[in-house]
Amino acid sequence: MKIVMTFVAAAAVLVSGPALADGAKLYAEKTCVACHGPKGDKPLMPDYPKIAGQNAKYAERQMLDIKSGARANGNSAAMKGVMEIVSEAEIKQLAEYISKLK
Ligand code: HEC
Repeated sequence: MKIVMTFVAAAAVLVSGPALADGAKLYAEKTCVACHGPKGDKPLMPDYPKIAGQNAKYAERQMLDIKSGARANGNSAAMKGVMEIVSEAEIKQLAEYISKLK
């Protein structure tokens, strides 16, 4: 069983690279999908941002700032709750992932 799991993990890495595979998983598991849409281009509310294809560095910075409270404008309160359940390393992976969404 362990061998099978290792093989599946290795296959996933070959298909999309480790960071992107993890980013996709995080994007679904950490509920990002609910507010920003499955591909980051169909926000739940008209005043929520489209994030697909956003510059990775910028997206990472915004998430870190919302997490720390440095950014508290607009609707960031809606986003802040989620930022408490993602680590800084996960935010980096998520930023990479959404920058690749079309
Ligand atoms: C409860 C709804 C909600 C969830 C869940 C959510 N967000 Fe957001 N997010 C928002 C809102 C609303 C904003 C805009 C805040 C504002 O108005 O300033 C935002 C902003 C952002 C931004 C900054 C966009 C910009 O152009 O500055 C990024 C990047 C982002 N979210 C990514 C994510 C990721 C990745 C996740 C999952 C870990 C996530 N969001 C989960 C509601 C949500």
